Amino acid sequence: MSKPLVSIVMGSSNDWEIMQQAAQQLKDFGVAFDARVISAHRSPDLLFDYIKEMSAQGVQCFIAGAGGAAHLAGVIAGKTTLPVLGVPIPSKYLKGMDSLLSIVQMPKGIPVATFAIGEAGAANAGLFAVSMLALSDKALADKLMAYRKKQAEQIAATTLPTLS
Ligand code: RP5
Repeated sequence: MSKPLVSIVMGSSNDWEIMQQAAQQLKDFGVAFDARVISAHRSPDLLFDYIKEMSAQGVQCFIAGAGGAAHLAGVIAGKTTLPVLGVPIPSKYLKGMDSLLSIVQMPKGIPVATFAIGEAGAANAGLFAVSMLALSDKALADKLMAYRKKQAEQIAATTLPTLS
């Protein structure tokens, strides 16, 4: 097993349904990653140990998904200077608006790059991590370009049904 380049952390196993979208993108691009459930408030000591361990192993960024009072990404960002990508998980009552505002409203000085609520945000966080790694990996950059080209071709080939 190659060492992980990206760490995906989520506050609850219930977040995996969304966060697996980030994992899937990394898998599709052949990027080694580690995925873990660690909560900033339920298991803060474990989180700090994990950040240290992943940093020592050479991860290049963290993708953090959390819902509600979603402080996971911000806490990780407070413990590392590696880029932190935050994914707001849809919540039961506020539909992820709480998660979004918690993650996006980081006070000046400790940034978290915030993505869209839900599946699209998780997938885009995975793709964004690929973009960052592609800066120093030509083969990965070529794969990303091919992925974009395929999307453009699919749009160009799309036709609408004719009206009766
Ligand atoms: C957060 O609380 C998690 O990220 C999750 O989205 C939310 C609710 O957790 P569960 O009650 O589903 O475990 O820590």
